Amino acid sequence: ELHRIPHPPHRLPLLGDVLGADRRTPLQDSVRFARELGPVFRRRAFGKEFVFVWGAPLVADLADETRFAKHVGLGVANLRPVAGDGLFTAYNHEPNWQLAHDVLAPGFSREAMEGYHGMMLSVAGRLTDHWDRRLLAGQTVDVPGDMTRLTLETIARTGFGHDFASFERDRPHPFVTAMVGTLTYAQRLNSVPGPLAPLLLRAAARRNAADMAYLNRTVDDLVAQRRRSGGGEGDLLDRMLATAHPETGERLSAENVRKQVITFLVAGHETTSGALSFALYYLARHPEIAARARAEVDRVWGDTEQPGYDRVAKLRYVRRVLDEALRLWPTAPAFAREARLDTVLAGEHPMRRGAWALVLTPMLHRDPAVWGEDAERFDPDRFDAAAVRARPPHTFKPFGTGARACIGRQFAVHEATLVLGLLLRRYELHAEPGYRLTVVERLTLMPEGLRLRLERRSPDG
Ligand code: HEM
Repeated sequence: ELHRIPHPPHRLPLLGDVLGADRRTPLQDSVRFARELGPVFRRRAFGKEFVFVWGAPLVADLADETRFAKHVGLGVANLRPVAGDGLFTAYNHEPNWQLAHDVLAPGFSREAMEGYHGMMLSVAGRLTDHWDRRLLAGQTVDVPGDMTRLTLETIARTGFGHDFASFERDRPHPFVTAMVGTLTYAQRLNSVPGPLAPLLLRAAARRNAADMAYLNRTVDDLVAQRRRSGGGEGDLLDRMLATAHPETGERLSAENVRKQVITFLVAGHETTSGALSFALYYLARHPEIAARARAEVDRVWGDTEQPGYDRVAKLRYVRRVLDEALRLWPTAPAFAREARLDTVLAGEHPMRRGAWALVLTPMLHRDPAVWGEDAERFDPDRFDAAAVRARPPHTFKPFGTGARACIGRQFAVHEATLVLGLLLRRYELHAEPGYRLTVVERLTLMPEGLRLRLERRSPDG
């Protein structure tokens, strides 16, 4: 029943809707098409037709778990060779999904999070040491690079007791380079006709195989080390290696553990790094918002050098800054939903069992019917309690939806709020005068080339 869904006007035979599209920015191109074509539209590429949905009522319907479920498609499916039946890329019917979900969920409980807090603080201390040195040397800071150092160290140390020494390196850790390589490759696979991929992407495929081998080796070493040392302090890796399912007594296989470790090291840092980077961009752009956030940090934390776990959630306004950054640039910018049975989407679009659509989160988050005509404006007050209550459900979805929503949400929010609080308290942030926001895509989103000039507030603040 696709004929009723609009598509771009200039379709080329065989190639499809490639006019005005750039293979490096598929998401931002889709956002442009969305503005022209409305709340549900389709794009065709090389004989395949993809349906995009962003209108709030349609997305709310797709969130109905009785009729729809996660679909492993496109970019996510392209990551199967890397992440296999790990939590993120597992098909709904694969038994390892439920098994790993049940075994790992306690690793994201409140108690577990409280246990990670000290380590998060200590990694944040590495970041501020690094920034203090840059500042003393009169240099600007590389925001996405340093946020990636921070978030990689945080997930590696809290989850796996592993130290990548990111802040001691001038260049990204090879793990990050290999990861960016595989994400970029997975995205590129969507931009060539499937049967021709081996030919067109031969060199890229070879590089990708080397990247995957590097990721596997890193993870295998990390696991071997843990097996030798005979257990850590009950972190994610211990759960993966030693915890049996509470009811069935089953454990994760060695091969599945490898996939889970890669999944968590990648999913656990790349998107949080982007979220922090966008938030810092907006804070530097809007000094009045930064001042308000900073005043909150001063009020709630005073000069407690090491704010405790409970103090982080008290930064309500800082949290709104983070939410508002994730509204405009949800760093995992789409998720796919498939029909579990023959059904009709929003009473209008018949879908057969297995048919699927992509939710275009950045457009859902800019739907003027929900967010107003000024939806493009950065305004954290959209997330004050009354405004949130007044909005319909399923209109803010940076972490996906339902059973397959992000397991690391609280982890990411706690880490990012803590770090924004620490940075606001310590520095004034100044954008470089000529900087214009450009967003790079590698399945995830990241502000490209963002650098800030820092000013220290008070020497021991
Ligand atoms: C799933 C976003 C941080 C681990 C997801 C999904 C989204 C998402 C949209 C659903 C994908 C889909 O439906 O196909 C984000 C964002 C983050 C973030 C925006 C940061 C701001 C994290 C962190 C971790 C993590 C810190 C781990 C420590 C995962 C895992 C899944 C997932 C394992 C798959 C869950 C499942 O299917 O059972 N995330 N995430 N994420 N995320 Fe996150």
